[in-house]
Amino acid sequence: MREGPATLIRREDYVAPAYWIKTVDLTFDLDPAKTIVASRMQVERNSAVAPQPLKLHGEELNLLRVLANGESVSFRHEDGCLVIDSLPEGTFTLEIRNTCAPEKNTQLSGLYTSCGNFFTQCEAEGFRRITYFLDRPDVMAVYTVTLKADKKKYPVLLSNGNLVDQGDLDNGRHFAKWHDPFPKPSYLFALVGADLVARQQKIRTRAGKEHLLEVYVRRGDLDKTEHAMNSLIASVVWDEARFKLPLDLERFMIVAVGDFNMGAMENKGLNIFNTKYVLANPATATDADYSGIESVVGHEYFHNWTGNRITCRDWFQLSLKEGLTVFRDQEFSMDMAGSASARAVKRIEDVRGLRQMQFPEDAGPMAHPVRPDSYVEINNFYTATVYEKGAEVVRMMQTLVGRAGFERGMTLYFERHDGQAVTCDDFAQAVADANPGSALAEKLDAFKRWYAQAGTPRLVARGRYDAPSRTYTLGLEQQSDPSPGQPVKQPFVIPVAMGLVGHDGRAIALQLEGEAAPVGNERVLVLDEKHAYYTFVNVDAEPVPSLLRGFSAPVNLVDGLGDAELLVLLKHDADPFNRWEAGQRLALNRLLAAVRTDSTPDADPAFIDAMRGALRHPTLDPAFKELVLTLPSETYIAEQLEEVDPQRIHAARESMKLQLAQALRDDWVWAWDEHQTIGGYSPDPVSSGRRALANLALAMLCLDAQARGDSVWPGKAYQRFKDAGNMTDRMGALSALLDAGHELTQPALERFHAIFKGEDLVIDKWFALQARTPEPVGRQGAGRSLQRVKALMQHPDFSMKNPNRARSLIFSFTMYNPAGFHRADAAGYVFWADRVLELDAINPQVASRLARVMDRWKKLAEPYRSAAREAISRVAAKPDLSNDVREIVSRALED
Ligand code: TRP
Ligand code: ZN
Repeated sequence: MREGPATLIRREDYVAPAYWIKTVDLTFDLDPAKTIVASRMQVERNSAVAPQPLKLHGEELNLLRVLANGESVSFRHEDGCLVIDSLPEGTFTLEIRNTCAPEKNTQLSGLYTSCGNFFTQCEAEGFRRITYFLDRPDVMAVYTVTLKADKKKYPVLLSNGNLVDQGDLDNGRHFAKWHDPFPKPSYLFALVGADLVARQQKIRTRAGKEHLLEVYVRRGDLDKTEHAMNSLIASVVWDEARFKLPLDLERFMIVAVGDFNMGAMENKGLNIFNTKYVLANPATATDADYSGIESVVGHEYFHNWTGNRITCRDWFQLSLKEGLTVFRDQEFSMDMAGSASARAVKRIEDVRGLRQMQFPEDAGPMAHPVRPDSYVEINNFYTATVYEKGAEVVRMMQTLVGRAGFERGMTLYFERHDGQAVTCDDFAQAVADANPGSALAEKLDAFKRWYAQAGTPRLVARGRYDAPSRTYTLGLEQQSDPSPGQPVKQPFVIPVAMGLVGHDGRAIALQLEGEAAPVGNERVLVLDEKHAYYTFVNVDAEPVPSLLRGFSAPVNLVDGLGDAELLVLLKHDADPFNRWEAGQRLALNRLLAAVRTDSTPDADPAFIDAMRGALRHPTLDPAFKELVLTLPSETYIAEQLEEVDPQRIHAARESMKLQLAQALRDDWVWAWDEHQTIGGYSPDPVSSGRRALANLALAMLCLDAQARGDSVWPGKAYQRFKDAGNMTDRMGALSALLDAGHELTQPALERFHAIFKGEDLVIDKWFALQARTPEPVGRQGAGRSLQRVKALMQHPDFSMKNPNRARSLIFSFTMYNPAGFHRADAAGYVFWADRVLELDAINPQVASRLARVMDRWKKLAEPYRSAAREAISRVAAKPDLSNDVREIVSRALED
């Protein structure tokens, strides 16, 4: 059987397991075609549950034998499980021997091979593809693992915990024995059998203990491991300093693999990483790659406490570990960034991601609460909602109890639950109990609606200034639309960080009616009802409200501010997030007006002056300026509209971009000249901010030049492309040429490929860049990007089997090139359906991610909408679809 039958799993049906597995001894005879797995388990009945047969999960396994206390027992197969009816009394030993076929495992779940080496991926339910087991997170066992393999081919044999024995066997084979002292669920098991080399580093932690850190990569990649190692050391130091959480193992390993479904995996003591989040040197990786590595290395390391030491009772609680760990990695990156401005840049990037991915998810057919109520395929619920919105929920808790209060909450959480498998309630309760009297403790039940109710609330704000009484009254109202299965919603508890800004830019002291004196210039209002009024006194003149500072809650703010007020905020707001937001809204309002009326957007003088003011500002950081000067994405613009015509949105945004390029030509020249980085490459926030702004300037200058038929700037871009000392600048120059549609693009692309042939991660960039670039608006051959993508599929370097490569071409095109993808002739959707079906036969997890590209099809204007429905229906009609893809397409087609 390929996989279990499609059944809906419900959160309310949770029951504790009927058996516990206390210890497991695994022996692997590693062979790509047929690996033999011998498992010896100490099994105990769970006395809290009525006696029943033992049902072990197993998938695509070949069973050789089953022994209980050394005697053979009878068994049967039922619902994808191995069922044993009669077993010895009390605790017993269960021995199972089976085989699996790693080289045939194209799903990359369970034990598989990549370039001939062995790796595992067990989250969420991959362990059952290795051997029969109670493959659920609340069954925690102590693992001892012996690996046997050919010594020449697989010199490195790794598993979780500590190495306790190793040696040679006959026939050129060798073995290694690992013991992990911490009981863990099966999803945290890992093994590696490979020909790899390691960068090693010994560190001493605060307690004076020595630990060995290792980063394993293929021979030849060692020069790309320094940044990952530095990020790991920084993670260890940070978790000890901020949360008093030390490294608890003698040895901590990271292993990079080129074939991987996701970013990385937090297996106890043996993290397995997509190469994309390990390998970097200045010549091959961009600034964005460097920061991605820092946050993913941090994320997986932080899971050691939030996920591994305390794990999830069941998969509905996934956000317990993921939301919390994303929050922790975001805080880590912010603390690493240092300056207030660099922290704000990170926050803006995170919110941009949330709005781009999670808000659409929460408004579409896959909308689900942070703690879902049901699923068919758990792999489909590793979502932006569980991860990113989950992190926002944790962030709101921190906002409600303060940073020190949150740290107390974490401490109490570990005091209570270390070593356990628990629920999201347990976490929220610990944070509340550690902060008695806080808004969180007082309103905990209502606050937890963030875990239960899907959808992005709207926060409608109206302010009224009364001159005679010198009062300013702010009315806040929350509104929630229905979500699948949730027609009506209870009010959320929404922390609204806010300030009032005078038209002259002054921050106004905030004194609410009834308060004896002002309480600073910024405060957090906690809206816990449908609506509420807040009256501020002693306000001398009409202020501009600056609401939801730092994006204090995952809501859509509707505050009715006009241009004049947004211009005040863009110039003066003390909160950098809202300052950026004001600039985005000035642009957005103009873009939306143009799209709605199918006209050209108007980059009027007030807007242009404001943008110039930001660009030329004497004290703002370049990284921040780059964010302000970048227009809202096409996806974000689409989300603001009732009906979406992707071509119109694209045309409007391109036109606005060109106007910015032309009107600010001299300023862009200044920005380019002033933000060159000299000296050796460093990925720090200051130099990467300078590169970001210089590269934006170059792109704008090329766009403007192209429109004028001038080739000076494209020539400079080509020169920069050739001479660049780092990948950020090389890619910046190449994409400037590509975006402008300049004829130097083709030779540049060819040169790029020739230089980086064989560097897989760089070749991914080469595919991605071409796939996400539409033909320039108004030029001959618009819509040709699909042809280019089809041609690239024939390139000898292309493969559908490698997830990074498939993502670089197919996902980049369908997700990040809306103008190329949404075609009136439906060819984009036909292509999408074909690729989903093709991928589903290889790797359902990756296929179902691609399937989700069409989530928002119902918002499309005709003729796109009908064509989209037809393409989705064609996928849904395929008889032997995976559960993964079937769940996505059937939800998309509902009602
Ligand atoms: N737990 C991993 C994380 O850090 C996610 C993950 C890695 C994953 N590989 C996976 C989830 C495969 C599902 C399937 O977020
Ligand atoms: Zn995670």
